[in-house]
Amino acid sequence: MSAPPLLELRGVAKDYPAPGGSLRVLHEASLTVAPGESMAVTGPSGSGKSTLLGLMAGLERPSAGTLLWRGRDMTALSEDELAAWRRVSVGFIFQNHRLVGALSALENVMLPLEICGVPGPQARERALGALAALGLAERAEHRPHQLSGGEQQRVAIARAYVHAPALILADEPTGALDGDTAAAVLSSFLALNAEKGAALVLVTHNPEVAARLGRTVRLARGRLA
Ligand SMILES: Nc1ncnc2c1ncn2[C@@H]1O[C@H](COP(=O)(O)OP(=O)(O)OP(=O)(O)O)[C@@H](O)[C@H]1O
Ligand SMILES: [Mg+2]
Repeated sequence: MSAPPLLELRGVAKDYPAPGGSLRVLHEASLTVAPGESMAVTGPSGSGKSTLLGLMAGLERPSAGTLLWRGRDMTALSEDELAAWRRVSVGFIFQNHRLVGALSALENVMLPLEICGVPGPQARERALGALAALGLAERAEHRPHQLSGGEQQRVAIARAYVHAPALILADEPTGALDGDTAAAVLSSFLALNAEKGAALVLVTHNPEVAARLGRTVRLARGRLA
């Protein structure tokens, strides 16, 4: 028997409260993510891309359907169990990096390790390694406001990978960058992904970005094409 997918969505739907009832923003979506594969999610604004990613991250609960992680039903987990799973298994990258402004690049990258209970000196060493892998060794002590947009997004990528999660979820990770910077950040991002063997699900409006990933799924008005 072959190994189960890393993540499987079976008929996953999401409703949000709306005036006069509820609104289904994601209709029964079924899809699998294999270990180590890369997938682009595209679709117009409002089509449900971020909603889909939030469900995959366990940040949102589905209104219908089930999510399976390595064959195990995620919808049965408590909030605490889900949070513990997310800390270990998922790295999340947002369009606007969401780094902690008061912390240095190094301290930002150390955060996921500290949350997982990795001792300080070891966390420091691994975070420095993650920054160096993205060409940021000289920027470790800089605060986010002392970094360019592309550098900030690289720090966010280092932070997402530092604890070696099996799944990376990225919501328009290069959307705020100019074309050349976006292409360079994406290149180092994909190289890191291949090296770490993480599965990557990346939301993008940009067909050139999508073309560089293993496959593309499209959303239109809350439905997977
Ligand atoms: N918390 C919420 N409460 C109510 N409606 C929501 C909520 N979050 C999202 N929606 C609605 O769900 C739909 C899908 O939103 P979503 O953010 O997933 O779209 P998207 O494809 O990521 O769009 P964009 O490309 O603009 O980021 C939208 O119509 C949005 O208004
Ligand atoms: Mg979105």
